[in-house]
Amino acid sequence: MMEQDMQEILFTREQLSARIKEIAAQISEDYRGKAPVVIGILRGSFIFMADLVRELDIPDMTLDFMSASSYGSGTVSSGLVDIKLDTSEPITGKDVILVEDILDTGNTLSRLVAELQKRNPASIRLCVMLDKPERRVKPIQADYTGFQIPDGFVVGCGLDYDQKYRQLEYIGILKPEIYE
Ligand code: XMP
Ligand code: MG
Repeated sequence: MMEQDMQEILFTREQLSARIKEIAAQISEDYRGKAPVVIGILRGSFIFMADLVRELDIPDMTLDFMSASSYGSGTVSSGLVDIKLDTSEPITGKDVILVEDILDTGNTLSRLVAELQKRNPASIRLCVMLDKPERRVKPIQADYTGFQIPDGFVVGCGLDYDQKYRQLEYIGILKPEIYE
């Protein structure tokens, strides 16, 4: 389904879930005995977040969500990021794990981290499904990364182009003619 729109399939559902299990094991070890709040950044992170949290062995964790806008319907980051939806619970004194679909220029996550730091959490770490290090303009790194990928617009597993393709169980590079 919709495979004809892909230039290349990068990761199958099986590859994604195997890697998510590895990251989850590491996070579970790092947060043993703690009560972190895992904050998913909507909408792109929702599938990764759902897969990840069901693999975590952290009985006292809680889940929350935020949303920020950066891309609109295009494929180029504006550098301007607005918080559209804030967390339901305050994060002061909490160990925060921010979960994002993809770290690209870093604009979105640096803005969000700066905002969340003002609220004095005990700690903040970043967990991203994908990282495109070549495209970074802000000095920010994830603490947990699913896969590093080269530049190219990717969709699936939560990632969209113009709000489509999020439901794909694989991650693929979209054919440039679709968005050019
Ligand atoms: P920045 O540039 O702020 O971007 O790090 C992060 C946000 O941009 C979106 N993004 C993408 N979305 N395919 C997508 O579907 C991509 O290849 C891609 N690259 C960046 C994404 O929403 C992320 O939250
Ligand atoms: Mg996003």
